[in-house]
Amino acid sequence: MANSDIRQRILELKAEKNALVLAHYYQPLEVQDMADHVCDSFEMAKRARAAEQQTVVICGVVFMAESAKILNPGKKILIPVMEAGCPMADMVTPEDVIKLKKEHPDAAVVCYVNSSAAVKSVSDICCTSSSVLRIVRSLPQKKIIFIPDKNLGAYVAKQVPEKEVILFDGFCPTHNRISESDVLRAKAAHPDSVFAAHPECREEVLNHADFIGSTAQILDYARKSEEKTIIIGTEQGIVERLRRELPNKNIYSVAASFICPNMKKTGLQELLNCLENEQWEIKLTDGEIAAAKQSLDRMVSI
Ligand code: 13P
Ligand code: SF4
Repeated sequence: MANSDIRQRILELKAEKNALVLAHYYQPLEVQDMADHVCDSFEMAKRARAAEQQTVVICGVVFMAESAKILNPGKKILIPVMEAGCPMADMVTPEDVIKLKKEHPDAAVVCYVNSSAAVKSVSDICCTSSSVLRIVRSLPQKKIIFIPDKNLGAYVAKQVPEKEVILFDGFCPTHNRISESDVLRAKAAHPDSVFAAHPECREEVLNHADFIGSTAQILDYARKSEEKTIIIGTEQGIVERLRRELPNKNIYSVAASFICPNMKKTGLQELLNCLENEQWEIKLTDGEIAAAKQSLDRMVSI
């Protein structure tokens, strides 16, 4: 089938099945273009919770679809590719969290939304990269166990010095791969530039950033910035979106192949199959949902 036919069929199926399609900014542009809303992970959670449609398709990775299900248990939540996981989410287990809680009984557990439902269920509150500072500051506890991203946790510790942040050893393989020399090389190639980075990058990278924020916040910064040349320190999906949206600006990636392979597993054909066959449906037990819901609800309400 030609891509134009696939696109047409996706639109028909979306209407027929009254399905809401949400895509993350790291999805291929062709998938983003078929979505009702393109979002960062916080907006995705909020939109999934507010959805009026009975069927919601999450074009992203599995933890995003699981979060949508937990926030909206009565709806059918579909993901086009079940193998689209997030390696960072797999780096921490509930047992790791329970062990840390025993070692630090006076600490609150703040869990990055990039985590499994089981890990969320042993955490006090979830956060995303756009909400993390607000959430950590809102907590009465001085001590914070932050899981699983050590880079985001270190960024929080720096921004909120009044808290003591206990770090876990997780990381995003895509963001963690970027080094200080990548940044220096990009800056040398584009001397009159500003650098905007995602807080999943290492501290040595963030130290050179003119702006640090979530995917949506980086987009917003690039749109509003007076600077003509912007180096982007996050996934290629953002770079491509900005290049198309801001043709009068020079948008560069900080390093070649800054790509999340799991986000790129979804293409037009996978989205079409998902709508046509109503697969793959996220299934969680009532117990799993009830246990994980509190920490996500708290995040969305703050
Ligand atoms: P955002 O919360 O910025 O959308 O990031 C999600 C993610 O997986 C980043 O790697
Ligand atoms: Fe997970 Fe990193 Fe991909 Fe985000 S970019 S989904 S944190 S692997």
